Amino acid sequence: MKTLFVVAFTATWLVDPVHHFKLSREYEVFSDHESVFLRNEKQEVEYRIKYTWDSIPVMHLPVTIKFKPGDQGLVMELDSLFFDDPPAPPGEPGKPFDGLWDYEVVESFFLNSATRNYLEVELCPHGQHLVLRLSGGDCLEKELPLPYKVDINWGTWNGTAIIPWSYFPPGVDKMNSYAIHGSGIGRIYEALYPIPPKEIEEGQGPNFHRLEYFRDFSLNSIMGNDWTQPPSDLWS
Ligand SMILES: *[C@@H]1O[C@H](CO)[C@@H](O)[C@H](O)[C@H]1NC(C)=O
Repeated sequence: MKTLFVVAFTATWLVDPVHHFKLSREYEVFSDHESVFLRNEKQEVEYRIKYTWDSIPVMHLPVTIKFKPGDQGLVMELDSLFFDDPPAPPGEPGKPFDGLWDYEVVESFFLNSATRNYLEVELCPHGQHLVLRLSGGDCLEKELPLPYKVDINWGTWNGTAIIPWSYFPPGVDKMNSYAIHGSGIGRIYEALYPIPPKEIEEGQGPNFHRLEYFRDFSLNSIMGNDWTQPPSDLWS
C-alpha cells in the first residue's frame, strides 16, 4: 500500500513539473504553488502551501501568503485556517517570542544562495512573531521587532506584517515558506517547496533550513525593475 502510494505520487510529481503559462496579461501562473498579480509595473505575488515538508498533499485549505510592495518594507499578508493547536504561546501579542516554531506558526525565509545569509520571519495567529537573521545554519540575531497585526475569525486567521528592508540580506534570490500546527504525533509541518519524495532518507524529519530546496525569488519582481534594495547596516 505504501509502495503504491509512493509510486503514484512520484508519477504526479513527474507529469507536473514547474511550468510557466500565461493566462492573461493581468494574471500569470508560474507553478502550482504560485500566482502573480500584476499591478502596473509593481505587483503582488501569492503563494499557496500545498504540501507537507515531505511532499504529501495537504488535505485542508492551503495557507496563502502574499507579498506586496511597501515603502518601509515588504508587506507580507497571510490567510490560514485557525487550528488553535497548540494553544497560544505565553508571550505578549505584538512582541517577539523565542521558540515560536513550537507553536502554530507561518514562516517565510529569504535567502541569498551565494552567501547563504538569510532572514526568517515567523508569524503566529496569537500575535507573537519571531524574526531571525541567519548565515549557513547559524543564528546571527533574533527577536528583531516587527510591525505585525493579526485577526482571528470563525476558524480562520489572517495577518499582515511589514518586513523592514534593512532585515533582508543583500541579494536575496531564493525563498521558501512553511506552516506548522498540531501537537504531539498530530503535529503537521507544511512547506511551499517540500523535499521531493525520492530524496527523503529513512528516519529523516522536517528541517526548514535545507536551503538547497528553496526556489527563485526576486524582490524586483514585486517592487519593479527600477527599484534597488536599500543598503542594510545590519548585514554589513
Ligand atoms: C484580515 O482580512 C480582512 C478581510 O480581508 C481585512 O479587512 C483585515 O484588514 C485583515 N487583517 C489583517 C490583520 O491583515
